[in-house]
Amino acid sequence: EVHSLLEERIRPYIDLIDTLRSVGIHKDLALPTIAVIGDQSSGKSSVLEAISGVALPRGSGIVTRCPLELRLKKVTGGVSWKAVLSYRDKKTEFVDSSFVGNHVEAAQNELAGKGVGICDDLITLEVMSPDVCDLTLIDLPGIARVPVKGQPEDIGKQIKSLITKFIQMPETINMVVVPCNTDIATTEALKMAQEVDPEGKRTIAILTKPDLIDKGTEKNILDIVHNKVIPLRKGYIMVKCRGQQQINEKIPLEEATQMERDFFQKHNDFRCLLSEDKATVKCLATKLTQHLVDHIKKSLPQLSEQIKKQLWDLRNKLKECETGAPQDPKGAKQFLIEILTRFNDQIKSLSSGELIIKENL
Ligand code: GDP
Ligand code: NA
Ligand code: MG
Repeated sequence: EVHSLLEERIRPYIDLIDTLRSVGIHKDLALPTIAVIGDQSSGKSSVLEAISGVALPRGSGIVTRCPLELRLKKVTGGVSWKAVLSYRDKKTEFVDSSFVGNHVEAAQNELAGKGVGICDDLITLEVMSPDVCDLTLIDLPGIARVPVKGQPEDIGKQIKSLITKFIQMPETINMVVVPCNTDIATTEALKMAQEVDPEGKRTIAILTKPDLIDKGTEKNILDIVHNKVIPLRKGYIMVKCRGQQQINEKIPLEEATQMERDFFQKHNDFRCLLSEDKATVKCLATKLTQHLVDHIKKSLPQLSEQIKKQLWDLRNKLKECETGAPQDPKGAKQFLIEILTRFNDQIKSLSSGELIIKENL
């Protein structure tokens, strides 16, 4: 399994970030994540599903109506699959993976109302399983140009401003999903990503639906994948996900993975992408994990500084308390100091530790 190779090196970083999130550090520090953007029906949910093994709600029209944070945690020992869905002050735990869609939909209905409206509130779905890789991804509503019945006139603007909120953060890796059977160079999502990241330092483009291209456009598409048209530092990767028919036939994900490989191996023009590490979902998952770790590593010194400062401020405050108020809950304070000290030490050791991860992929 490709992910287990990276597991050992990556785990501490992801754990650290998740721990920091869980104690609310993200309110003061922006932490790195991967945001998925693209036009409606470009294949965002298909890509997310293929990477995560989590069956998200999907279909035609606007399905994702609130930002959905998907936190994947690889766990061993006992747990086969477990998820915790949280939004606002609610938390639901469940162990049947076929209920993901229902739970997410119910949460969306509550936050954005039943129908076709959107909402900025974040829904978090934490999935623990031995079969997922350690990634945190955010699914966003698809870019729509024309409002459908029941949507406000400015829905396009609303969606774009919601997407911008996530993709403008310098800590976010933007994964832009573009179908091969469209005019890739003029894609709105790619334009939006370029606006917030002109140098393409944190933008990775995913080309979907290579099985649906217009005959004769293969060479143009290859030029794009080879970074000759709109150069992106993190480049392009082509994936073939399940089409609607394969979904209707309930082709399992593992089988779809094999079918994807076969597709590329048999394709005269795209075959070369396999050896160049520019094709398949599996390759994408590996790259994303590496990008994420790379990104976290880069932000560690800054995280460390900010935590040191918080720790210092807190120690001073505690000193004041200790002399002034004798009935302080001492145990709680001690606990807090210990946690913060431990974080700081963890970060220090991680930022100075050597990692054998391939960089500049
Ligand atoms: P989203 O709206 O961006 O989340 O797009 P979806 O993931 O829901 O995909 C829209 C439609 O495109 C679905 O019917 C998918 O089955 C189909 N689709 C996605 N990727 C591929 C692909 O690589 N090949 C084919 N043939 N269909 C795909
Ligand atoms: Na859709
Ligand atoms: Mg979708």
